[in-house]
Amino acid sequence: MGDYEPSLPVSEKSNPLTCDIDRASAESIVKMLHRCDVQMFQEESEGTYQRLLSDQVVKTLAEVAKRAELILKDPQDSLVVLSGCGTSGRLAFLIAARFNRALRQLKQNPVYSYIIAGGDRALLSSQEAPEDDPKLGMLSLKKVCEGKKRVLFVGISCGLSAPFVAGQLDFCLQHPEVYTPVLIGFNPAHQARDEAMPGCTFTFHSVVQRMQEHANAFLINPAVGPEAISGSSRMKGGSATKILLEVVLSAAQAAAFSRTPVTCNGIVQHIGAHKRTVDVTYSECEGIAALVEAAGRSLQGGGCVCYLGWGSLAVLSLMDASECNPTFGADYEDVRGFISGGYAELNINEGSLTSLGPDFCIAHEDFLHLLLPRLTDKDTVLLIYTHCDDVGDVLKLARRVREKMVNLHAFYHQADGDTSAALQQVSIHQSLFLYIYVSIYRSVYVFFLLQDDINKLCLSTLNITWPAAAMPFCRQNRTLSSVSVPQQWELSTKLVLNAVSTGAHILKGKIYQNHMIDVQVTNSKLYRRATRLLQRLSGRPGPQCEEALLKAIYQVEELTGDIPSCDITTHTHKARSRTKVVPAALVCLLTGCSLVEAESHLKQRPIIREAVEELL
Ligand code: F6P
Repeated sequence: MGDYEPSLPVSEKSNPLTCDIDRASAESIVKMLHRCDVQMFQEESEGTYQRLLSDQVVKTLAEVAKRAELILKDPQDSLVVLSGCGTSGRLAFLIAARFNRALRQLKQNPVYSYIIAGGDRALLSSQEAPEDDPKLGMLSLKKVCEGKKRVLFVGISCGLSAPFVAGQLDFCLQHPEVYTPVLIGFNPAHQARDEAMPGCTFTFHSVVQRMQEHANAFLINPAVGPEAISGSSRMKGGSATKILLEVVLSAAQAAAFSRTPVTCNGIVQHIGAHKRTVDVTYSECEGIAALVEAAGRSLQGGGCVCYLGWGSLAVLSLMDASECNPTFGADYEDVRGFISGGYAELNINEGSLTSLGPDFCIAHEDFLHLLLPRLTDKDTVLLIYTHCDDVGDVLKLARRVREKMVNLHAFYHQADGDTSAALQQVSIHQSLFLYIYVSIYRSVYVFFLLQDDINKLCLSTLNITWPAAAMPFCRQNRTLSSVSVPQQWELSTKLVLNAVSTGAHILKGKIYQNHMIDVQVTNSKLYRRATRLLQRLSGRPGPQCEEALLKAIYQVEELTGDIPSCDITTHTHKARSRTKVVPAALVCLLTGCSLVEAESHLKQRPIIREAVEELL
């Protein structure tokens, strides 16, 4: 992979495994995604970049876990801050919330905080511009850490590229008496972005170099292979981020509260368990493909896809839905997520965001009032839950949806039904044992009855069954420090939803080969990516491609005096209100036609892949 597209960092390369994913069937798409995800766990071979299981990576993970352990044991005036942009920030939120919950259950004070570029609204919608602002990153870190004497800061930037995170890391390096900086990303250090940032003397690359020279800074940057859709770091980048954060923080928690010291072996085992989660999930390839097909049909027919989720799986569905806008240039109504309990369940820093408008109405009640009345059979609704959720409530909602439309599907996680095997592992007093046995048996029985009713209401059901051992105790397992059941469910759900939304947009024709052509050009990284894509597909030189891109952004046939001299921030700000800029620029480059003609060509052929293929 090192020699493949050598000028590009791993996170921006196109993946040879998916070069014809745009023409694949739903089932082949899922198989390709599986092969790509398996690359996350590939071992390092000679002459290649370090990987998730490389000795150095595992050693660094253990060291960082020990730093976190120190904070957990003595949390006074201390904090662990997780921060990132887009998906990286959303995962920071998800993990901080889960580990704080676990601390509360252990009667400990929460020590985890999250920062996402653009604030809490970015958890639910695309806010790409703040990613470019290193000062904003630094200020938001300072604010969260006010009065703290010791901070373990984990900055996440899959591409080692986000200025927002670079600003935070630079600040940490300047204040080593308080801050221990950790950087998570998936490119080798020399591939960190080396582009000047507004108002800064440093680049991401120079910050990484300083971290490498610093004894009290940690760089966790295994390569996980190129994304299935080039540059879509929400996919493998997001999954690997989740795995790494969970591995480190679980090990720290176990060391602090269960007298299980942090070891490299423990870390390797934990990563291995995540690999099994990936395999178990994709063993349901057919069921996943059925969901991809249903969602694809809906998007193709101008319908929408709604995820109705419970608990942390609902958070993942909100994340997946919010990523479709910047990734595929989708409308916010195309894929939407809803969570049982709404903002009360989500529990974010800024509280309820419903006042921001209908896109921020995320409760099931909002779905029932705002969306359901408009849904028809061309839309897809997907229920997402586990057997630990209120399955009676799932059934109630399923019935409400079915009164309106038939295209209802279910995706749930459950145990393999062998409850006795699980109970044998628990050594407790016999009468208590019997009591628990009976209650579990009863709840499993009730679950099966309700589930049967739900199945009858759904067109397809994707059921992922996990080893029974830990399952009946899922509530307790929320506090366990090793690979816990919720971690498996969450990763599995992330993979399935990524497959559904990515696959559906592929079937809608939004992807050409394995590139997102209709990408939003709303920050500098995406601006550079768009220019590169135009170069690649048109074969024209860079400056000409940039010119075509600018014409499409400003909707002008000629670039007037001041446009070329404006900075990228001005261009990307302008691009926020525009759609299909990259496809329009490409049509102009390929045909030499005017922008007006290109736009009318795209109107006549709304399937972008076909519009582009016709010209190529
Ligand atoms: O700018 C958009 C985006 O690419 C998101 O899709 C992604 O989640 C975010 O940037 C963060 O990227 P990174 O983790 O590489 O900084």
